[in-house]
Formats: sequence, structure tokens, C-alpha cells
Amino acid sequence: MAFPSKVSALLLFASASAALNLFLLLPSLFPSPSCPTSSPVPTKVGDHRMPEQIFPTSDDIKWIRAQIHGNSLPDPSNSPHVWHSLRKGINPRTREQQLEDLLRFKGISHYEDAGNIHTDLPCPGELLVEEHHSNYGEPWAGGRDVFEFLTSAISLQPSDLVLEVGCGTLRVGLHFIRYLDSGHYSCLERDELSLLAALRYELPSQGLLHKRPFILKGDDMNFSRFGEDSSYDLIYASAVFLHIPDHLVWVGLERLALKLKPMKGRIFISHNIKFCSRIKKECPMKLEEIGLEYVGNHTHDSLLFNHYEIWYEFRRSVK
Ligand SMILES: C[S@@+](CC[C@H](N)C(=O)[O-])C[C@H]1O[C@@H](n2cnc3c(N)ncnc32)[C@H](O)[C@@H]1O
Ligand SMILES: *[C@@H]1O[C@H](CO)[C@@H](O)[C@H](O)[C@H]1NC(C)=O
Ligand SMILES: *[C@@H]1O[C@H](CO)[C@@H](O)[C@H](O)[C@H]1NC(C)=O
Repeated sequence: MAFPSKVSALLLFASASAALNLFLLLPSLFPSPSCPTSSPVPTKVGDHRMPEQIFPTSDDIKWIRAQIHGNSLPDPSNSPHVWHSLRKGINPRTREQQLEDLLRFKGISHYEDAGNIHTDLPCPGELLVEEHHSNYGEPWAGGRDVFEFLTSAISLQPSDLVLEVGCGTLRVGLHFIRYLDSGHYSCLERDELSLLAALRYELPSQGLLHKRPFILKGDDMNFSRFGEDSSYDLIYASAVFLHIPDHLVWVGLERLALKLKPMKGRIFISHNIKFCSRIKKECPMKLEEIGLEYVGNHTHDSLLFNHYEIWYEFRRSVK
């Protein structure tokens, strides 16, 4: 694979899942590197020119380093104390304090007519202070890495159709929604708090309401409400299938297989495929039964923090 990889020798279907779960839960156990020095990944894949640049180029990285350097900004320190000593002339608030202020002053405005309502979509303080950016442990910025990786892996075009399973608070989904044409992103998610964060805060605050993403609540892998004959270029699940019981994953995959565009369509599943590794030898047979074929795995690095993810790629069986 053409993607930069820090891991090369992980075993297929191996019990790497335990280590990965630990990694998911405790990213701070892993050493934090200095800023990235990765070389650019081409924005051209095959003969298709990407409609807009997805990955930063090495020139982009050089440029942003020059901006930081040109402003005489120090390298980030590993010590929270040193970092916080930079907060001169700032009135720092933790999320908790910010929330307390919001609740106490009821979002009081700085203007005289604070009694009037200036808000079309009243939003709870918990969302306004972005508690949900930490709902799933992983840094929010990692959503961009996933988007860049998946988009480039299949040369996704804005006119393509994408379905996400378990989009959570749209950590990844936001980037797809922004990139894709209006109405081309769909998601099935079961968690009410995540859906509230996505619909009441993320879409409005990111200015993405006009993109009309189709986000539905559900936990039963029933995709019929997305349209019986919809067919997708990309279906992905980021850190989702490892949390779902095997039987439900298989039910889901069987239904999703029918929703893939015949030649081009791909399913990408991140982190691990325990549902498959648990039945080892039978797995390829079972995949064949439901009309799927395992294509291979990929890893991708992160721009901002020391992190990689493993993704498993599937397509519709040719037969
Ligand atoms: C670890 S979070 C990842 C969220 C998001 N994909 C991301 O990368 O930030 C797993 C998500 O899967 C959702 N999920 C779990 N089981 C599900 C099911 N049966 N159907 C739909 N979503 C589910 C959870 O509610 C949660 O939002
Ligand atoms: C990824 O695929 C390679 C090549 O088939 C294989 O050697 C490796 O074990 C796989 N890694 C994982 C974690 O599945
Ligand atoms: C899926 O949901 C639709 C209604 O939204 C319902 O008619 C159908 O029976 C459900 N299918 C399954 C397999 O549960």
C-alpha cells in the first residue's frame, strides 16, 4: 500500500485486538513524538485527479512550520506546567468552569437587552463547551486523518455516495459532509447523546446544515430507511464493529454488501475484525456467503499526534 505506515509486521487476524483496545483507551501510554515530518502523499491516485487537495503536501507542512517559526513561537513543551505558563493575559477556563459560568449566567449576553432571545437553535451548555469532543477518548483531530485516508484510498469524488455506521459525534463524518455534495452522506447511529451533539451542535457550528446529511437513529443494522435501492461508493465504520456483537455485525455486513456499488463500492472497517478472526477458517466462506470479499488491510498515520489505525477493506464478490 502506498500509505505511510509505522507498522509492517502485524499478523492478519492476530490477537492484536487486545493491544489495539488498550491503545484506544490509553493513547497517553504511547510516546508522544515531535511534530510530523512525513513526506507528501500524492493527491493523484491512478488516473483520477482529486477534485480538491485532501492530504497536506510537504510544501504545506513547510509553510505552516515557517509560520510558527516566523512568529517566534516555541516548540511545544512536554510539561503541562511550561505549556500553561504561556497563558499570559488569558483568562483560562477548563470545560467544567466554562460550563459552570454558562449555567450560572444563563449564557448572558454582553449587551443590554440580554432578556431578549437571540438564538434560533438553543444549545445546551455541555455541547457549547464541547464535552462531546472527548466522548470516545480519541483526540478530535484524528477524524481528519481518517477522512484523508479513506478518501484517498478510493479516490472518492464529491459526487460519490457515502454511508457511515456509528458516526458518533461526527468526528470523522464532518469532513465527509463538508467534502461531499449535498445529501451524499448518510449515517446510522444508535447513541442519543452523540446524535444530539451531531445535530444540535456540530452541523450548525460548522456551517454544514445546507449539506443535508441523512443521519438516522438506530441500532439494528436496518438500513431500509436509507432507501431500498441506494447504493454506495463507500461504507465505513470507524471504531464501531469492535464494540458490536458478532451476530449483529454479520447481519449488518450482509445487508451492507447489497448496498455497495457493484465494482467500485468498498466497505472499510477500522481497528479489528474480531467478528471474522473468532471463526478463523470459516471466515472467508462466510464472507463469500454474504457476497463479500476481503481485499486487504491498510494503516495510516496521523498528522497531529502519534497514532495509526488499521483498516480492513471489503468489496462485493465478483461472482
Ligand atoms: C468508539 S465510537 C466511534 C464514533 C465515531 N465513528 C468516531 O470515530 O469518532 C463507536 C460508535 O458506534 C456506535 N454504535 C455502537 N453500536 C452501534 C449499533 N449497533 N448501531 C449503530 N451505531 C452503533 C456508538 O454509539 C458510538 O457512537
Ligand atoms: C495486513 O495484511 C498483510 C498482508 O496481507 C498481512 O501480512 C498482515 O498480517 C495484516 N495485518 C493485520 C493486522 O491484519
Ligand atoms: C426495517 O425497518 C423497516 C421500517 O423502517 C421495517 O418495515 C422492516 O421490517 C425492518 N426490517 C427488519 C429486518 O427488521
